[in-house]
This record gives sequence, structure tokens and C-alpha cells, in this order.
Amino acid sequence: MKIAMVGSGYVGLVSGACFADFGHDVVCIDKDQSKIDALHDGIMPIYEPGLDALVETNVASGRLSFTTNLAEGIKGASAIFIAVGTPSRRGDGHADLSFVHAVAREVGETLSNDAVIVTKSTVPVGTGDEVERILQSSGTPHKFSVVSNPEFLREGAAIGDFKRPDRIVIGAEDDFGRDVMRAVYRPLFLNESPLLITSRRSSELIKYAANAFLATKITFINEMADLCEKVGANVQDVSRGIGMDNRIGSKFLHAGPGYGGSCFPKDTLALLKTAEDYDSPIRIVEAVVKTNESRKRAMGRKVIEALGGSDAARGKKVALLGLTFKPNTDDMRDSPAIAIAQTLTDGGVSVSAYDPEGMELARPIMPEVTMCQDPYSAIEGADAIAIVTEWDAFRALDLARVKELAKSPVLVDLRNIYQPDDVRSFGFTYHSIGRA
Ligand code: UGA
Repeated sequence: MKIAMVGSGYVGLVSGACFADFGHDVVCIDKDQSKIDALHDGIMPIYEPGLDALVETNVASGRLSFTTNLAEGIKGASAIFIAVGTPSRRGDGHADLSFVHAVAREVGETLSNDAVIVTKSTVPVGTGDEVERILQSSGTPHKFSVVSNPEFLREGAAIGDFKRPDRIVIGAEDDFGRDVMRAVYRPLFLNESPLLITSRRSSELIKYAANAFLATKITFINEMADLCEKVGANVQDVSRGIGMDNRIGSKFLHAGPGYGGSCFPKDTLALLKTAEDYDSPIRIVEAVVKTNESRKRAMGRKVIEALGGSDAARGKKVALLGLTFKPNTDDMRDSPAIAIAQTLTDGGVSVSAYDPEGMELARPIMPEVTMCQDPYSAIEGADAIAIVTEWDAFRALDLARVKELAKSPVLVDLRNIYQPDDVRSFGFTYHSIGRA
């Protein structure tokens, strides 16, 4: 089957490469000539473990190609995926659908065979209806069906998530749409990945509901961690204790500095906007968004407290280990590190930092932070060290060396990757999240 993927960003490229790996013929399309040129040279526009090898193999086998020409790219495709960005619209937090609508218009004008048009971008409820209207008004003589097929890929684990999904959600309104989508996902379906077929609107909402629920779960455990610190309990035990209840589940209960990234912050805001438009408030998500936002700066204040409070902190130096919103990505979008560094510099603290992949993108966002070439050079002369992202590279630091290099042995572990007793046995003052 031929598949066209319009938009060769994170979602489009990972999905396109995986579909090709299943044996489909895939053309990834993007307006950005430099991105397509780079892909032709085997250079990935994003950092995602395993993606370059997957792309290389499938390009070599002739199943994956790249173009900037949409009309050419979609020719003969049974499924045309729209995987362009839906950033937060400036001002109101609504998802900006201008790219999705522009692709729908161009597809309508250039369609040369019957095809299913699939929105893979995260789009608010009703977007499929609008895409259908746009295609209808193009006057195309070809049969088409508009389907919703949200993605549930985590950055850093996207290929595994695509190939071994918990479920595949398809929102379709007719048999043509359902049948083509079953054929697209047949390889996974045969592998026993559950396929959930719903209406288009339900499918669109599932994506937002899933991300909002996960954001809520994280925020719940983060507030529980704050309470643990006050009452002398251990949040990791509390997570384990509640997670063993199958109705709750153990995942996404790691307390930390707050969620970030390109999805949860944007999607929770967009969901609230939809809720407002339909006069159906989701107050729990309103609270999640506010709580998570204020938590990021609170983490900066936690580091200042570890330095002895705001007066003592002025003029001191903090080393941040990890800047990206999570490990195994170079993505800095809405990373807690940004607010933490800002709170520290606002308080007169100088900041050095090291991140295995994120420093290039971090540099322009945090101009006041000195980027270092490894964790130990960041730590040199620091009055406190804060672990912000749980990269594997920070899990087994040479603590004796760290103590020697740092000016004072103060470790603030915002991801709980160390055991308090271990760290203290090296003579550190150790602060973590939700552990008294
Ligand atoms: C998230 C969802 O997990 C994916 O299913 C979804 O497809 C994707 O958004 C999307 O909508 O495209 P992602 O943003 O890549 O994926 O990252 P996650 O692994 O979900 O982490 C998000 C944030 O939550 C990170 O800042 C992470 O540190 C934080 N987190 C996660 C916690 O603080 N605690 C946890 O227990 C889990």
C-alpha cells in the first residue's frame, strides 16, 4: 500500500519510517527544502534513538522517500496522513490549525485518486469535520474519507511505542475510512495490538483526554510529594503503594520538577480552550495546568533554600545537570530547567549546566547559563548541584570526585535518582523530592 505523510517533523517522520518498515511504500513530504535535503543526506531533523538507522534501512530498500512536492508525493497513495504542527496559538492557547487546513486545501486541489485523509496531528474535536468541509469545497471528483488517528508516541521511545502500542485509535465515519485504516495497521493488528475504532470526534477527544489524564497523574503525585516532605513520608513508597492497585496503575507516578515537553503543556491548554468554547469546564485540568506551572519556579526556590535561603544564595554558583524536559531527547520545550535557571539567576545565583543532548537548543533560551562539556566541569566550584533531568549519565556519578570538585557538597536531586543514605555517606547534604 502507498502511504503519504504530509509533515516530516517528529510524528510524521517516526510514523513514516515505521510504516515503511512494516512493508508499506511511504513518501514523507515537507515544505521545508532544507529538511528534505538533509533527510536525503541521512541527517535527521530531530534526535530520536534508532530513527537514523530505521530511515537508512528503509530508504535503502526503496520503501521510504522524501519530497517537497505534495502533488507528486500523494499520487497513488491510499492513505494521506496530515502530520503537521498544531502549536499553541499565541494569546488564547487554542491549537493553531492553520497548517492542517492549508494541507487539506492543497490535498483537495491536487488529489488524483480515491484516498483516505488521516489527521495524525493532535487536533481539537471537530477538526476532522472542518477538513472534510475543506476537501468538499475543493470540488475534487475523487472519493475521500476523513479519519482521525492520534499518535501516542513518547519522545525518546517513539519507535518502540509505534511498533508495540497499547492501542491504535481510529475515528472514522464510513466503511471506506475504516477499511483502509485496517489495511494500514494490519501488520500491528496481526501482532495483536488492540485496534479501537470509534467515531471521529471521540477519537479526537481520546488524544486530549489521555494527555490530560497523564498530566493530572503526574501533578497529583507531585503535590503528594510536597505533603510527604511535610509529614515525614516517602513519596516513592506512596507511589508504589497506590500503583499496586490495578485501578490506579504504577506508571506516571514519578514525582519530579513538573511535566514539560511539546505535548502535555500545549494539549492541556488546548483542551481547556475546547472546554470553554463548549461551556463545559474541566476544573481538574485547570488546576493541573496552574499547579504544574508554579511548580517549576518552586523548584528553583527549593535549590535556593538548599543554598541557605535567598540572602545566602546571592553570588553563589549552582550546577544544573540535565536541561531537557526528559532524557533521551534534545527537546527543551517547556522544560522545567528553563524556569529553574531563571529563578536562580533572578536570585543573583550564577548557573553552569551540562546536558548530553540539549545544550545546543538550550543556549539561546538560557543565555545567562554557562554550558559545560561534561558534568564534572559544570560541578567545579559549585555551591550546590541540582539534578534536573534523569539522564542515565547522571545515575552513577563519581560522588567522591563530585565532592572534591564542588565548593560545598550540596546535592538537590529533583528526580530522586539517588538513595539518600548512599549520597550522605559521601558527606553530602542531600535534598530530594517527597522524601523527608
Ligand atoms: C507524551 C505522552 O506520554 C505520549 O503518549 C504522547 O503521544 C505525547 O505526549 C504526545 O502527545 O505527542 P512526551 O511528551 O514525549 O509524551 O513525554 P512523557 O514521557 O510523557 O513525559 C512528559 C513529561 O512528564 C516529562 O517532563 C516527564 O519528565 C514528566 N513525567 C512523566 C513525570 O514528571 N513523572 C512521570 O511519572 C512521568
